[in-house]
Amino acid sequence: MTAFKVGLLGHGNVGAAFETLLAERADAVAATTGLRPELSGVLTRSRGDFDEILAGSDLIVELMGGLDPAREYVLRAMAAGKHVVSANKQLLSQHGEELWAAAREHGVQLRFEGAVAGVIPVIRVLQESLAAAHIERIHGIVNGTTNYILSEMASNGVSYEEALAGAQALGYAEADPTDDVTGRDAAAKMAIIARLAFSTPVSLDQVRYEGIEHITADDMQYASDLGLGLKLIGTAERVGSGQISVRVHPAFLNAEHPLASIHGPFNAVTIESPAITEITLSGPGAGGPQTASAVLGDVISAMIPPASTAETTEALEIVEDVESAFYLYMEVADRPGVLAAVALLLGEEGASIKSVVQKGLGAKARLVMVVHPLLESRFFAAVDRIATLDFLRSRPRAIRVIEEEFL
Ligand SMILES: NC(=O)c1ccc[n+]([C@@H]2O[C@H](COP(=O)([O-])OP(=O)(O)OC[C@H]3O[C@@H](n4cnc5c(N)ncnc54)[C@H](OP(=O)(O)O)[C@@H]3O)[C@@H](O)[C@H]2O)c1
Repeated sequence: MTAFKVGLLGHGNVGAAFETLLAERADAVAATTGLRPELSGVLTRSRGDFDEILAGSDLIVELMGGLDPAREYVLRAMAAGKHVVSANKQLLSQHGEELWAAAREHGVQLRFEGAVAGVIPVIRVLQESLAAAHIERIHGIVNGTTNYILSEMASNGVSYEEALAGAQALGYAEADPTDDVTGRDAAAKMAIIARLAFSTPVSLDQVRYEGIEHITADDMQYASDLGLGLKLIGTAERVGSGQISVRVHPAFLNAEHPLASIHGPFNAVTIESPAITEITLSGPGAGGPQTASAVLGDVISAMIPPASTAETTEALEIVEDVESAFYLYMEVADRPGVLAAVALLLGEEGASIKSVVQKGLGAKARLVMVVHPLLESRFFAAVDRIATLDFLRSRPRAIRVIEEEFL
């Protein structure tokens, strides 16, 4: 099979994760594209030679960060007719127009999904899925570090300094967190998002930004008392005829707002357009393996834009009986022994009860419980048996409970 040579510039958090992922997924990519991706060389400060790597590559992946020499290498790669994939938000938010013009001039692709909101496919959605939509507004939580800090302050009542120290200990914040906490990192991402959403040049120096360094535990308490969430929000919106605003600042959000429930290091972007109403995309905003996944997705897109759905490469079994947690609602006679009888039948089928609430009295007595995940077939076997108990006033009702927590 023909090899597709990928030159890798940078071998840090994301670059090293990209090398690992590329090796793991090479067979699957080969099956999808008909080309086998492999590294042609790696450039760091201490190893590799850019000219040699460029000469031996079909595509260049830039994961060095910074403006120079990243800008020069990306321009040279495109001038040599190579596609480029980059996750460098600083570079794209400050030199995007020059780089995109060079890509058009040389007929190559410049892909950058990993530069904004990590693995969340916001770039693809703006450039492809929503290419026909007239976008009115985008709100985003596009910096995981600050969202983690604010989430910790809100849920544990800790100070900004304590939450920042925790974020650093967990690797969510850099030793020098300035770009994150001042809002500058989010501003770079909003510049790129706004450029794509509104097809107008937007660079980082045009984005007004304010960080979270001055937020206090009192502010968080106030937000919670009012039923509001406090988040660092990036906004890109049309504000008048021929005008847009692009900004980043802390903001209170109604609990119902889709971004209010984004906690921890997660990112989310809400896109509003009259035709589509509103779409929210959310997921991990950063991290080496997560960003590497976005980068490899871009590499595959650049290798062969598939004309149609690729042939299947796996024959996986589709199972019907899975484990689920359940909410179980029973209208019961108000008498002793009811709970024990239900618990016994559930227990015999391997169901363990997470919580129980008894509600109402007499003819209105109800028993509501949540059971821990178990095979659905076993749970429904227990329900069938419970339904035969003489104290039931109607058939029990069961609703599955999705328990995943993404924190
Ligand atoms: N980390 C994340 O979660 C994340 C998420 C989204 C996007 N990104 C973006 O991805 C890019 C890489 O981030 P990272 O976290 O992987 O950075 P990193 O850990 O600091 O790694 C940077 C790599 O680039 C190399 N490098 C830097 N300057 C160089 C130069 N002048 N010549 C040759 N090599 C050079 C470094 O070489 P040495 O090993 O010799 O120092 C290192 O291998 C950045 O643009 C970042 O904004 C990162």
